[in-house]
Amino acid sequence: MAPPAREKLVSGNWKMHHNHYEAIQFVQKLSAMLRASPVPPGRAVSLHPSLTSLRSVQTAVDSDGVPVALGAQTCHFEDRGAFTGEVSAGMLAKLGVRYVLAGHSERRAYAGETDEIVRAKVDAILRHEMTPILCVGETLPEREAGDATAKVVRQLEAALGGRDGSVVGRVVIAYEPIWAIGTGQVASSDDAEDMAACVRGTVRRLVGAEAARAVRVQYGGSVTADNAGEVMSCDNVDGVLVGGASLDPEAFSAIIHSGG
Ligand code: PGA
Repeated sequence: MAPPAREKLVSGNWKMHHNHYEAIQFVQKLSAMLRASPVPPGRAVSLHPSLTSLRSVQTAVDSDGVPVALGAQTCHFEDRGAFTGEVSAGMLAKLGVRYVLAGHSERRAYAGETDEIVRAKVDAILRHEMTPILCVGETLPEREAGDATAKVVRQLEAALGGRDGSVVGRVVIAYEPIWAIGTGQVASSDDAEDMAACVRGTVRRLVGAEAARAVRVQYGGSVTADNAGEVMSCDNVDGVLVGGASLDPEAFSAIIHSGG
């Protein structure tokens, strides 16, 4: 019997955009669009607003019954303590957050997140029964030097090695080549598929075949309505992580429906 098809997850990472008023307007517009044209079967959507907009988005999504899961962009790995400016995974879970990005390349670059910290964040997110979206990807010099696969494998080993397969099967892994983020330069669908297959193969080697079949692998990096359908049709790509194009409800709705 064929294994059940994996759900495709379309995630909007707003980064440091949209204050809470703008966030509410976005949700209201998206809500109207998704009423007129529902999320296609086999797809799910998550929105990752800034921390100040989370509560507003949660209230707007709940009161309108919008078929969108609440997501966050990061969290601290400790449950509580003297960490000025930080927010814990438990606090996010209490707000109804379902997905949390861990190790986005911007956080690795600007906030000093090491592989060790990213692993601890994945621990915290799982401990609070949310789904981590573990972000991995190579720089342009790494790709040009032929080191892209080694870099991604190393990041996966650091975050997922030694874990239980049933836990890893619940994780989402976002392959985001750093040279494609915010640049308008998209990886070819062959490259996205090759790396997604490599991610799945690494999960198989690390924790077993069942987790490898279940784990969802997103592609991210300059995804738009023009390229989302093609990349999501790749066998091993189970959705997209969208930055810039997720800020506009029309563009994001087009991505949700693309190729579907
Ligand atoms: P982008 O960002 O779609 O603007 O390239 C993607 C991301 O950083 O997740």
